[in-house]
Amino acid sequence: MKKRINIAIDGPAGAGKSTVARQVADYLSFLYIDTGAMYRALTYKAIEREIDLENGPLLKELLNETVIDLKVGEEEQHVFLDNKDVTTDIRSYNVTNNVSFVARQSEVREEMVKRQKVLADKGGVVMDGRDIGTHVLPNSELKVFLIASVEERASRRYKELIEKGIEADYNTIKDEIALRDKRDSEREVAPLVKANDASEIDTTSMTISEVVDCILQLAKERS
Ligand code: DC
Repeated sequence: MKKRINIAIDGPAGAGKSTVARQVADYLSFLYIDTGAMYRALTYKAIEREIDLENGPLLKELLNETVIDLKVGEEEQHVFLDNKDVTTDIRSYNVTNNVSFVARQSEVREEMVKRQKVLADKGGVVMDGRDIGTHVLPNSELKVFLIASVEERASRRYKELIEKGIEADYNTIKDEIALRDKRDSEREVAPLVKANDASEIDTTSMTISEVVDCILQLAKERS
């Protein structure tokens, strides 16, 4: 790899973005940035403060006094909210089902995008989210759009929860993923949409390492 390019990875919930993005970043010794975690951290804080999750200006005020840090850990990336490790808290059911309300506020997005651009301005970043190729890093050298059927995404999530010993119902998960897709794709500001110049990869019947290899190959061609 000659150049420290930026890699944008977008796609719907459960398409495997974070697992794949982390492995690609590890392999290239790039920095992995999970932008969904940033929206989740703000949502967690807003819920704790009992702030209306549809009040953009108020959420923006809250974000202005909020420090969100992403730090590389042994197994996973750790998310710090005002210096407190909230890596597990932001994956709760409550945050997961409310984050799309916060993420659709234009005031919030504007500030998040600003922070994300700064994180990537030196290159060598793998960033995953919904609007990375379209808004955050529109000039990135490689844009990937990961998709998978809703059934496959629900089944991956179901297995993940069962393996962690968490009770789960496949049909409920499937309905929630479909609802989140709908909210993320139909929102007015920066909806989930594939950038014109993104490479689409359907991961439904691919293994993680196959997807990683495919992205590494594309990265090699762009470097
Ligand atoms: O990828 P995730 O499930 O952790 O994302 C959480 C929510 O944040 C999801 O509903 C979409 C939203 N999001 C977004 O709007 N823009 C991003 N760049 C990343 C996530």
